[in-house]
Amino acid sequence: MEIRPPFLLILLTFMLSYTPTISSLSANISPIKSPSASSPVLPSTIDPNQLKALNSLNIPTIKDPCSQSSIHNSTLCDSGKPFRHLVSLRLINCSDNLRISTNVLEYLSTLQELEFLNCPIPLVHFPAKLISNLRSFSCINSLKNLPGVWLRRFENLTDLTVLGVKVNARGPRIVLRNMKKLRSVRISHTNLTGYLPKKWNLNITHIDLSGNHLKGKVPSSLKLLVDLEFLNLSSNKLSGEIPTSVGNLLSLRNVSFASNSLRGSIPNSISDIPGLVHLDLSSNQFNGTIPKFISEMKELKYLNLENNNFNGVLPFNGSFIKRLAVFKVGGNSNLCYNHSMISSKLKLGISRCDKNGLPVLPPPYHSESHISVSVDVACPSPAPAHEGWHWESKIILVTTVGLSSIVFVLIFLVLLSKWCK
Ligand SMILES: *[C@@H]1O[C@H](CO)[C@@H](O)[C@H](O)[C@H]1NC(C)=O
Ligand SMILES: *[C@@H]1O[C@H](CO)[C@@H](O)[C@H](O)[C@H]1NC(C)=O
Ligand SMILES: *[C@@H]1O[C@H](CO)[C@@H](O)[C@H](O)[C@H]1NC(C)=O
Ligand SMILES: *[C@@H]1O[C@H](CO)[C@@H](O)[C@H](O)[C@H]1NC(C)=O
Ligand SMILES: *[C@@H]1O[C@H](CO)[C@@H](O)[C@H](O)[C@H]1NC(C)=O
Ligand SMILES: *[C@@H]1O[C@H](CO)[C@@H](O)[C@H](O)[C@H]1NC(C)=O
Ligand SMILES: *[C@@H]1O[C@H](CO)[C@@H](O)[C@H](O)[C@H]1NC(C)=O
Ligand SMILES: *[C@@H]1O[C@H](CO)[C@@H](O)[C@H](O)[C@H]1NC(C)=O
Ligand SMILES: *[C@@H]1O[C@H](CO)[C@@H](O)[C@H](O)[C@H]1NC(C)=O
Ligand SMILES: *[C@@H]1O[C@H](CO)[C@@H](O)[C@H](O)[C@H]1NC(C)=O
Repeated sequence: MEIRPPFLLILLTFMLSYTPTISSLSANISPIKSPSASSPVLPSTIDPNQLKALNSLNIPTIKDPCSQSSIHNSTLCDSGKPFRHLVSLRLINCSDNLRISTNVLEYLSTLQELEFLNCPIPLVHFPAKLISNLRSFSCINSLKNLPGVWLRRFENLTDLTVLGVKVNARGPRIVLRNMKKLRSVRISHTNLTGYLPKKWNLNITHIDLSGNHLKGKVPSSLKLLVDLEFLNLSSNKLSGEIPTSVGNLLSLRNVSFASNSLRGSIPNSISDIPGLVHLDLSSNQFNGTIPKFISEMKELKYLNLENNNFNGVLPFNGSFIKRLAVFKVGGNSNLCYNHSMISSKLKLGISRCDKNGLPVLPPPYHSESHISVSVDVACPSPAPAHEGWHWESKIILVTTVGLSSIVFVLIFLVLLSKWCK
């Protein structure tokens, strides 16, 4: 009796692992010339040459890589006949000794999407046919040192991601100039040098060039990108002011200029961007007063202005601050808050204003570190915050019920003893 469940389990595992093997064997051993005539029931399977190519990349091919549940969703195929072809391939956690030859890539040149994730293998020449077909290329902590001239060949890309690998080019423009269909670009933490491009594909929606060594100004030609939803230029060496024309980016939702050397004041034109959700200007040298219109931006959820040179009275009230998921203004030593509008319980990391609108010195949290002075204010709407409240109220409820039942029992016992007398 006790042997039975494990036995069943083993049998089940055996059956499950064996069934796909059979189908892939039949695909391997008997190359079907006219599948419709010989076996109409059998679904079309992957091109045998592509199967060999996948094998050489250590991708498990026990199951047909075109079947829905391929390992980690790393492959995707078209519905071609007699053979299906790969359109998408993701290589994850490659072993150090894996080598990809141009030959193998030649077999895989039907790919439209190719992703390398944690595959620090040597760079290889990509065949022209693959380059022509690729729409999306992603290289995350992979391929070691990408020359700009190697990347710029991918002219048909709509999506480019390069993250955590060095890009050797004299600026993003060298890489991106010929990618006329680019909709989304992320070249981040690549130590890329040079200046921001003045020209972009006008249809671009996502730009992330964060974590590089880009210098110079933010070009005002950025205003032409009316479809731009996401702009992250944080952690570079950009200088100058944010161009006023930033207000033309009417589709913008998330923007970060954090950790650069930008100065000047927050442009008023930002109030023209109706859907702005995320604004990060932290760790620059912005100055002037913080404009009140920010509190009228209906969609705003994240506002980080910390570590700048803002001055004057913070023009927000407590209900606006509590509405945000994240609000940071610490590290602005000339900025202060009006304590009749904001409770000092919201530890903002700036000091209270005196009656002239100047910080009461010394600022209460100034002695603490620059980073930890700011405080995230939990937004009332997201679920986790709700769960937090739920927990607390549950504890209170349980404690209350517990205490009152003890009191009740005590009273009952006292009454009982009196009554029994
Ligand atoms: C695998 O792909 C299918 C269909 O595209 C998708 O529904 C599923 O969520 C994916 N699974 C994983 C783990 O990515
Ligand atoms: C890749 O490796 C990381 C840790 O090294 C692991 O967390 C992750 O699950 C692995 N992914 C796959 C698909 O094997
Ligand atoms: C881009 O794709 C088109 C067909 O869609 C093709 O004619 C062209 O050669 C491709 N460009 C490159 C650089 O491969
Ligand atoms: C960028 O440069 C820094 C310092 O020179 C180095 O530590 C880091 O590994 C480089 N990053 C990449 C992705 O090469
Ligand atoms: C931008 O997108 C529109 C359609 O959404 C298309 O007609 C146009 O050719 C695209 N322009 C560029 C430069 O890609
Ligand atoms: C911008 O990029 C940095 C680092 O790459 C990241 O920490 C930050 O969350 C990003 N900001 C936005 C708005 O996505
Ligand atoms: C945009 O910002 C919001 C608020 O901080 C965040 O929840 C969302 O994930 C961001 N979107 C992207 C694409 O980073
Ligand atoms: C901001 O700093 C600049 C110098 O970078 C200065 O010319 C300007 O007057 C300052 N503006 C305010 C409002 O303090
Ligand atoms: C707080 O500020 C917001 C935006 O300026 C305003 O709409 C709201 O009425 C103010 N609330 C209070 C209690 O003053
Ligand atoms: C603080 O707010 C009160 C009430 O809104 C106002 O009367 C006072 O002038 C403000 N103080 C400063 C320094 O702005």
